[in-house]
Amino acid sequence: MNWQNLVYALTQVGHNFGAVVVVAAPLYRLITGQPARERGVLWLTLSGWAVQIASGTLFGLVSLYFYRQLPDIHGIAIVALTVKIVCAITAFVLIAVSLRARDLYTGRRATMVWQTLAVLAIVALTAAAFLRWYS
Ligand code: HEM
Repeated sequence: MNWQNLVYALTQVGHNFGAVVVVAAPLYRLITGQPARERGVLWLTLSGWAVQIASGTLFGLVSLYFYRQLPDIHGIAIVALTVKIVCAITAFVLIAVSLRARDLYTGRRATMVWQTLAVLAIVALTAAAFLRWYS
């Protein structure tokens, strides 16, 4: 049993499903224009971003554990990773602020929040491809 591959694979499973959630939830909300269960969809999206941050960090920790060093990346790969981290933190804060508002945003303001979340997810997913092939 190769433990390193197993841990990487399981981390990737979480990371892949997190990616599905952060991309699909805002698109679902924008396409259906469905304000029902708005808070629930916001929580789902927040969990997706939390999974991305946790599993993304775990990739680094697994590398530290097995190789005693972080992955040796530079150039475009560093830019891509930074883009993903900025997107994740921005989305997380935006959702947390939206959930803390006494009344949930409605109308144009809500649409703008969901549009921003969709763009952040799509940019992060695009950056993932560059991180993968430039590292
Ligand atoms: C704090 C945020 C994040 C960190 C630290 C992070 C980190 C990582 C790392 C280290 C890898 C492995 C790269 C490799 O195989 O060389 C990875 C892969 C991946 N990440 Fe992230 N990530 C983050 C957020 C995201 C987000 C928000 C998405 C999608 C919306 C995403 C989608 C992916 C995908 C699809 C892969 C697999 C790429 C492939 O092997 O083809 N990540 N991520």
